[in-house]
Amino acid sequence: MQKNQNQDNYDVLIIGGGAAGLSLALHLAPQARIALVTKGPLTEGATLYAQGGISAVLDKSDSIASHVKDTLDAGAGLCDENVARFVVEHGREAVQWLIDHGVPFTQQTLPDGTIDYHLTREGGHSHRRVIHAADATGRAVETTLEQQVRHHANISLFEHHIAIDLITGSKLGLDTERCLGAYILDRTAHHIHALSARFVVLATGGAGKVYLYTSNPDVATGDGIAMAWRAGCRVANMEFIQFHPTCLYHPKAKSFLITEAVRGEGGRLLLPDGTPFMHKFDARGELAPRDIVARAIDYEMKRVGCEYVLLDISHKPADFIKRHFPTVYARCLELGYDMTKEPIPVVPAAHYTCGGIITDMLGQTDVKGLYAIGETAFTGLHGANRMASNSLLECLVFAKAASEDIAAQLATAPLSPPLPAWDESRVTDSDEEVVVAHNWDELRRFMWDYVGVVRTNKRLERAKRRVDLLLHEIAEYYTNFRVTNDLIELRNLALVADLIIRSAMLRKESRGLHYTLDYPAPDTRKPPANTVLAPENYRGEREKRGEHP
Ligand code: FAD
Ligand code: SIN
Repeated sequence: MQKNQNQDNYDVLIIGGGAAGLSLALHLAPQARIALVTKGPLTEGATLYAQGGISAVLDKSDSIASHVKDTLDAGAGLCDENVARFVVEHGREAVQWLIDHGVPFTQQTLPDGTIDYHLTREGGHSHRRVIHAADATGRAVETTLEQQVRHHANISLFEHHIAIDLITGSKLGLDTERCLGAYILDRTAHHIHALSARFVVLATGGAGKVYLYTSNPDVATGDGIAMAWRAGCRVANMEFIQFHPTCLYHPKAKSFLITEAVRGEGGRLLLPDGTPFMHKFDARGELAPRDIVARAIDYEMKRVGCEYVLLDISHKPADFIKRHFPTVYARCLELGYDMTKEPIPVVPAAHYTCGGIITDMLGQTDVKGLYAIGETAFTGLHGANRMASNSLLECLVFAKAASEDIAAQLATAPLSPPLPAWDESRVTDSDEEVVVAHNWDELRRFMWDYVGVVRTNKRLERAKRRVDLLLHEIAEYYTNFRVTNDLIELRNLALVADLIIRSAMLRKESRGLHYTLDYPAPDTRKPPANTVLAPENYRGEREKRGEHP
């Protein structure tokens, strides 16, 4: 149900309704009027499909220091230790907040008869510290928070509305740099309106759809990153795209992830002839961090010439498998595999965008009044490789931090001035929709082939030539034709692809998720550094050119 549709001026405009956007909305709603915009139905986003769980130090034998260390180890020298400590220290509180809001995490009866939350294990974690709701943790989080957001009088929902671009004072030639709102396309009424707010928060998730094969849902087209870049924000570490090692290999199983917790609970990776291989790549075997496991699978698939490897947990009792992995079990069975009796075929797929919009520890971006939280943001937590189940945690912790920062400024932040209407006077309806469909397909295919798990200079150069051409074509198309959902997404995907390729070209070493045959080892001659890209309208760039910022 949509509320207050006609009121276009809000305290806070939140773009995105996943773990980050929903929790931010609930933190702020007691004191602020909020507009919450989502491209599709409120619940559709990566959060809904998260399986494994949320990492936090909840067990007595675990420690903050150990969770921080595991995060830094997985991040291959590029995590910001202060950020990692900040997030990990707030883990217990974030999980408790979800429990207080009614999220039904899985419990277990301990040998002494007491009941406690069950903690599972995933790659890179040296302790059991992943709290979960069976193998559908994200669904439990998303649908529980959704109900509370839907019934909050201070939150106006705009479902099936896609944000096209941010509106800033500098774009309008005003005397302020501030972000003032956004242009939003109502996908049902085909109408574009300007929503204005004192604060704008991007909680738009990742960009997995840049790749042909991905665990991500269709909404993950990197819109927040692209909008922020066009508004003058810097981005960092876009080359670090995480490939999840185990997505089900099946022509009908679009995007179906097999949670890492299957390996956490004893699942083994095997070649099609049944030979184990992970021990050859890392002493932690199947529980090595994801970059190592995905690369090992890619290597073995190319070496043996097979289209998938096998994941086998059939040695565990059937009732254990069905209890821990009811969703995965049911989906595999539907597709003809009984994982209690046989191994299942798996392949890597693009899963998580480690880089993103640069923010500080309060979620603030380079543009005043504009925040970014969740997967779209680059906070410094994940470094060159995100550790499993640290992402939902980051969403929750930064949503709380941003909410406190915004709440503290609500009384003094300026009201957004009236915003100009979207100008459609010079465009017509497209007569060649095929261009959009073709370019979508071409982009995702060359990104998979040339900018995937294993990269080379030559492949990156090829990808760069192709993306330049697409960017040019899309810009032309965008100027001439009325915008549609697909065109908005394609424009953003192409820009994000370009940022990924440029960042990958700048990193002359292999580190974490970025592996290139031309520089197969980390560069030890200098300290590890983030790859930071700045748009031409970034304040610092304008200052360098001597323009008054
Ligand atoms: P999302 O949940 O992706 O939400 C993005 C929102 O932004 C959506 O509402 C979307 O409609 C909206 N949006 C985007 N663009 C626009 C636009 N232009 N206009 C309007 N709205 C827009 N992480 C873990 O920590 N643990 C796990 O177990 C885990 N499992 C995962 C399993 C799968 C299959 C996947 C894909 C990811 C998993 N992850 C996991 C990663 C984690 O789920 C995501 O990083 C996290 O949910 C991102 O949350 P978010 O709120 O940032 O974005
Ligand atoms: C999974 O369950 O394997 C996904 C966990 C994550 O991406 O953090």
